Amino acid sequence: MNILLTGGAGYIGSHTCVALIEAGFTPVILDNFSNSQPAVLQRLAQITGQVIACETGNVLDTPWVEDVLRRHGIAAVLHFAGDKAVGESVAQPLKYYRNNIGGAVSLLEAMQAAGCRTLVFSSSATVYGDPASVPITEDFPRRHTNPYGHTKLVIEDMLAAMQTTEPSWRLGVLRYFNPVGAHPSGLIGEDPSGIPNNLMPFVAQVAIGKRPFLNVYGNDYPTPDGTGVRDYIHVQDLAEGHVAALQALLDQGKSFTVNLGTGRGNSVLEVVKAFEQASGRPIPCQMAPRRAGDVAQCYADPALAKTLLGWQAQHTLADMCLDTWRWQSSNPDGYK
Ligand code: NAD
Ligand code: UD1
Repeated sequence: MNILLTGGAGYIGSHTCVALIEAGFTPVILDNFSNSQPAVLQRLAQITGQVIACETGNVLDTPWVEDVLRRHGIAAVLHFAGDKAVGESVAQPLKYYRNNIGGAVSLLEAMQAAGCRTLVFSSSATVYGDPASVPITEDFPRRHTNPYGHTKLVIEDMLAAMQTTEPSWRLGVLRYFNPVGAHPSGLIGEDPSGIPNNLMPFVAQVAIGKRPFLNVYGNDYPTPDGTGVRDYIHVQDLAEGHVAALQALLDQGKSFTVNLGTGRGNSVLEVVKAFEQASGRPIPCQMAPRRAGDVAQCYADPALAKTLLGWQAQHTLADMCLDTWRWQSSNPDGYK
């Protein structure tokens, strides 16, 4: 069965390609390489022993996307394509509204025209804003604190409206918590351009000697050690979550919205310690003021995903650090 992955050359999409092949599906990548490297395709071939079809182009090009869907006889789409940097979304909101919301509209129109109505969408825990408590269940109120988060919220609402009007759509909305880690081969992983915004890639670059120290953004949060707590989830678990979501849509035909997280929260200092252990390298830290927009704690209640999809995360924080380190140390400059 042929499955289209928009943004399939990116961090989460590339890992999901491997999981789909292992589950017997045939992935087709659609990507414009605005935030990824074509070199990932050779790495995927090395891991899977298969050449994965890739269509290079923009998801905003509706007639072309429709043509891709028809030519490949696509049964379902996993929609990863989009921009994801919170700070950049504040600086350039229109870029985010056009690419993320415009991209989703374009894809849905192309799917409608091609008669493909099964979609898995990459949403984010960012839709919970600053949650009133933890762990977070899917019925918590949603709010946005930046344009990036707003795009995820609007797309979720757009999908719900489509479902009301055309009940034949099968829609799986996945709210990821904090994806980290890499494929255990060390051949594919997260390859941020410029200075990483997120904790794990920054820590990995400190360990490899690219950055002198980690700024710890705030040590006065109401958490056990004062630093921010997040639900880090191995990208391999996330990839399996996509396969489970796709399978549930195909088997049961019912739409859903679920959290993909582990249900465990780890602080910044716990991540640093686990990474030091995994890499055998010191991670010098410097305390810094809180980062604007950050919340104290954010972790999932992952029970619904277990009930609906039969999926739960398997990997530990130590696994996430070991696999990140293998990727970082064998590819100090990413795919370049
Ligand atoms: P990524 O940037 O590595 O992958 C996105 C891919 O989409 C890239 O390969 C990029 O080139 C492509 N792309 C962007 N705009 C496109 C367009 N108009 N046409 C075609 N291709 C386009 O990001 P990722 O970390 O793999 O994230 C995938 C999705 O998951 C995104 O929608 C992101 O918002 C969401 N998400 C990510 C995280 C995270 O921490 N990584 C957390 C929650 C949600
Ligand atoms: C960030 C985004 C969020 C997005 C998520 C996944 C912000 C405000 N939020 O969330 O919208 O969905 O990434 O892409 O950007 N930290 C440091 N030093 C660093 C980097 C991070 O101390 O150099 C701390 C942060 O303060 C936080 C934790 O590490 O407590 C995790 O940060 P990060 O990896 O950026 O993820 P989120 O803040 O959860």
